[in-house]
Amino acid sequence: MSEKVIAIEGGYKLNGTVRISGAKNATVALIPAAVLADEPVDIYGVPEISDVEALATLLRELDCDVKIEGEDIRIDPSHMKEIPLVSEAVNKLRASYYFMGVLLGKYKKVKIRMPGGCYLGPRPIDLHLKGFKALGATIEYVDDCYIIEAEELIGNSIYLDFASVGATINIMFAAVKAKGKTIIENAAKEPEIIDVANLLVKMGAKIRGVGTDTITIEGVEELHGTFHEIIPDRIEAGTFLIIAAAAGEKVIIQNIIPQHLEALISKLKEMGVKMEVVGDSIIVYGSEEPLQNIKVKTQIYPGLATDLQQPLTTLMTQAEGISQVQETIYIERFKHCEQLNKMGAHIEVGEAKSTIFGATPLHGARVMATDLRCGAALVVAGLIAKGKTEITNIYHIDRGYDNIDHKLITLGAHVTRYEIDD
Ligand code: EPU
Repeated sequence: MSEKVIAIEGGYKLNGTVRISGAKNATVALIPAAVLADEPVDIYGVPEISDVEALATLLRELDCDVKIEGEDIRIDPSHMKEIPLVSEAVNKLRASYYFMGVLLGKYKKVKIRMPGGCYLGPRPIDLHLKGFKALGATIEYVDDCYIIEAEELIGNSIYLDFASVGATINIMFAAVKAKGKTIIENAAKEPEIIDVANLLVKMGAKIRGVGTDTITIEGVEELHGTFHEIIPDRIEAGTFLIIAAAAGEKVIIQNIIPQHLEALISKLKEMGVKMEVVGDSIIVYGSEEPLQNIKVKTQIYPGLATDLQQPLTTLMTQAEGISQVQETIYIERFKHCEQLNKMGAHIEVGEAKSTIFGATPLHGARVMATDLRCGAALVVAGLIAKGKTEITNIYHIDRGYDNIDHKLITLGAHVTRYEIDD
């Protein structure tokens, strides 16, 4: 058996400009959202990632017309049918669970396989289901499939015990065509949720309070076609900020909403990283000064994103002294640490936390992307390591980073892909 790896020859200083793509975690909700309309929906700024291909496969299974041209996607749901989603494609990504909300909203019935995605420890969907139930749906779990149905969906008040991104979006999807008013309390506030609500409102939905703790949705009978441009990916942007801080001389990162990255920017400044915000770009300057150790705690937005904790850990290995990560969102999201240790890092993992003893020089090794952001952490490590790093399981990286090799090569990195025998 052979598999493709990303190989990075470390130690080359990065210079130049990189443009951030549309947000993956908005895209994977915006695409399912489109099927709630009865007419075509155009979405612009779609990143070239394999999660989009998997979603397009699911849309086609539902008899939707899907046209992807560069960064634009046209989804025409006018002839779609209520078909169970039980194929392998469901399993390729976590976000296939958004078809629960949209199909329940549209047809009042959905049968769907258990969704896949990165393993980050337990990832229950009890809050999504609690929301559907509150709207009047019954839920059965038979042969790895959820069957969720309702005679009619009726608005209700739903309190989320945790401000879950997925549950907030999924309940909005089911509620936009429900009868009457739905109130989601302790709703998540991530920018991707606002982006999704903006599309729904353009389609004719009545939603207020997005971006606050309380979202109110007044159900409507029909949703129509529209167009929408996706916000920039704050996690890809954050990853490139970290890459530039680790390996850059002067790197300009364009198409950023700096406000979305405030927590990371503060932490990077605390480490001594020099950067400047200019409009929708951030310029990061390399420095010969040693980086300072920091303590970080992942939190819901606007706190430090759990998705950035992993690549940031790589940068912390280059800081003098002891740094610490406390994970409050996914308490087992530490698989990258073992891989970084193979490259010379000294990281100890405890319960929901890691301790990084720095600064340690890193050396090339064959390492495994155990999940998407572990892959990002290993890319950062490969860029600063001495010698060659080969990253396996790169399908995780391709799920969420648009043309990462090309973007890095443009900055002067030495990155290739080839097959190895495993
Ligand atoms: N949770 C529950 N019950 C639920 C839902 C969530 O207990 O019904 C818990 C989870 O186990 C977790 C916490 O709530 O401990 C947060 O989960 P959330 O629902 O907010 O996360 P998600 O919607 O599954 C999205 C992103 C993740 C990102 C998290 C947190 C998508 C497709 N995924 O996941 O992105 O880490 O929000 O911000 O939007 C990534 O991009 O690498 C990634 C994993």
